[in-house]
Amino acid sequence: MTATTPEGGADGLPPGLPMPVTLPGLPERVRIHEVGARDGLQNEKATVPTAVKAEFVHRLADAGLTTIEATSFVHPKWVPQLADAAELMPLLADLDGRQPAVRLPVLVPNEKGLDLALGLGVREVAVFGSATESFARANLNRTVDESLAMFEPVVARARAAGVRVRGYLSMCFGDPWEGPVPIGQVAAAARRLYELGCTELSLGDTIGVATPGQVVALLDELTGGGIPVDRLAVHFHDTYGQALSNTLAALQRGVGIVDASAGGLGGCPYAKSATGNLATEDLVWMLHGLGIHTGIDLDRLSATSVWMAEQLGRPSPSRTVRALTHQEL
Ligand code: HMG
Ligand code: MG
Repeated sequence: MTATTPEGGADGLPPGLPMPVTLPGLPERVRIHEVGARDGLQNEKATVPTAVKAEFVHRLADAGLTTIEATSFVHPKWVPQLADAAELMPLLADLDGRQPAVRLPVLVPNEKGLDLALGLGVREVAVFGSATESFARANLNRTVDESLAMFEPVVARARAAGVRVRGYLSMCFGDPWEGPVPIGQVAAAARRLYELGCTELSLGDTIGVATPGQVVALLDELTGGGIPVDRLAVHFHDTYGQALSNTLAALQRGVGIVDASAGGLGGCPYAKSATGNLATEDLVWMLHGLGIHTGIDLDRLSATSVWMAEQLGRPSPSRTVRALTHQEL
């Protein structure tokens, strides 16, 4: 029988909340890589004022998130929503000395982006590659080979400067132009990106089409090919409602870094069928229910997403945010 909290919700917990019960094979801790301020806001029609972005990041840090992807140093014509990256970063400087430490990675596609980021004292960057030619062209105006060549000096210089480099790999399962992406093609692209020297590889289901068996198959292919599981992260979009089940499958395979977006903000401006990311609140609800430590104050995080939804003028799509804040489902 499952233990539940008493009716009415003791200790401020929602009524009927079951006590945590774990499952075999799960990590003890999960680090959430929060992408709302970047992946979320890059896809908004309206450009959010810089001061609101800065407040968003501070509220996320106050809620206990320790890795908060802040923005992108990309061409402003390609992603006008994040054209204020150079103005935003100094407004986040006070987060530097926090305990626990707050990491503020930013996306950089090329050396120009890296120079701008390093000039502002950024300590963690991410390059973003594609498993398919169509998305490489749409997102970076490059072939897969050309994009890897563009990343090579970025990764080398960043590592030489002691800066962490995440490598995103998009379209790991399906691609809106090319359909299903063969696992061998994804594994080959992942390996090339990893071998550039990325400290972490985030596997993106950019259009949210994957299901758990496919996730496990890809993870097994990559770890079987020598990429340690502790270097892998997963990045799911929730287009078909599969993001949480895919995450659980990845956790059971030993993945301990999960990307998520507060309130489920997100998408990708260069992939039409990409909808919101996995909502951080939905993820935290599941992790806490499994007894996995995150360090996140869920009420505070939900309040942040409600606040951000007000700024954007529409409700959060996260089921957990809506349930916790008594909004209609
Ligand atoms: P391009 O047009 O081929 O650039 O774009 P270029 O190298 O030919 O240079 C053209 C001009 O852009 C030059 O200026 C450069 O200086 C300038 P001009 O001489 O004409 O005045 N430029 C820059 N300006 C500012 N910052 C820079 C920069 N680089 C060049 N970094 C480029 C190539 C890569 C720049 C462009 O395609 C671009 O910015 N793409 C970014 C697209 C993007 O941000 N997409 C969203 C992120 S990916 C994603 O969301 C997926 C993910 O979430 C995972 C998942 O879900 O799968 C990560
Ligand atoms: Mg994404």
